[in-house]
Amino acid sequence: MRVLSGVQPSGTLHIGNYFGAIRQFVGLQDEHECFYFLADLHALTTVQDADRMRALVRELAAGYLALGLDPARSVIYRQSDLHEVTELNWYLSTVTSMGLLQRCHSFKDKVAQGVVPSHGLFAYPVLMAADILIVRSDFVPVGKDQKQHLEVTRDIAASFHATYGREVFTLPEPLIQDEVAVVPGLDGQKMSKSYGNTIDIFGPEKPIRKRIMSLVTDSTPVEDPKPTEGSALYQLLKIFAPADERRWVETAFAEGGVGYGDMKKRLFEYFLATFKDARVRYDELMADPAEVDRILAAGADRARETVAPLMDDVRMAVGIR
Ligand code: ADP
Ligand code: TRP
Repeated sequence: MRVLSGVQPSGTLHIGNYFGAIRQFVGLQDEHECFYFLADLHALTTVQDADRMRALVRELAAGYLALGLDPARSVIYRQSDLHEVTELNWYLSTVTSMGLLQRCHSFKDKVAQGVVPSHGLFAYPVLMAADILIVRSDFVPVGKDQKQHLEVTRDIAASFHATYGREVFTLPEPLIQDEVAVVPGLDGQKMSKSYGNTIDIFGPEKPIRKRIMSLVTDSTPVEDPKPTEGSALYQLLKIFAPADERRWVETAFAEGGVGYGDMKKRLFEYFLATFKDARVRYDELMADPAEVDRILAAGADRARETVAPLMDDVRMAVGIR
């Protein structure tokens, strides 16, 4: 089966990105033909500063590789290197109704957060459909928040098929991991760079420790049992704790006697243990940009070969060839 997914280089990688997306990408490499890209064109809807864009692309590429995406097994590329995506985007946009896009939550949510309601932001789901349909992917691993975009992708593919009377695309299915559907942030809301409540994966230890120690908790005294309902600290401990420490977490909350400060220190230790190797590898990759560029260029070449037959079918179907 073919798998495709992408992450926007629109901010520093945080643990929500890892548990909600990248960890799943890594696991799928064993059994599937995987395509993982950096959605830099999508990121232009929010990042409009060239130097920052270049830096974020570099960080995300290093992050992908450090966290275990393997160029020997997966095709790893930059969206903007695959020009066919923007060509397909146009064909798809001509069979996409305004109403379909008007129903998308993510557009409304981003505008509510203060993002400029540009045409690009409105048409974001069409470009995403192009990303997915262009490699004929069967599965798309994403967080819950992207589920609607997958439905829109299927609707757009079906509309193209109905308009041109040819079935050129594969209708993709989302792969949503239920256990960690939404990773909570420091304040208990969904962890997201736009809420400023993230725990970053890379970068110096000290500020990360400080962020973890600032996790919002209630005022239950040390000796009392602690409520688990709605507790971000509890959820994060459960996500990070190695199998043999899960009981400790349950007992600490159920029986009391452990203060929130100690629990947060434990969380920081779990964090470091989880990402120790990745953090070393990330620093190495950040120090060797030529190696990262080489991997991305090779990935783009492989992606281009893969999409060529589909693009021929599409051009034939619309009468451009
Ligand atoms: P952010 O919300 O910080 O802007 P993105 O929208 O760039 O993050 O998300 C990139 C990927 O990480 C997506 O697949 C998304 O579903 C996943 N993701 C982001 N935040 C979380 C979270 N808190 N819990 C689970 N998955 C998440
Ligand atoms: N919209 C996705 C996000 O914000 C990123 C993305 C762009 C994507 N194109 C995609 C994800 C195609 C999966 C498949 O996380």
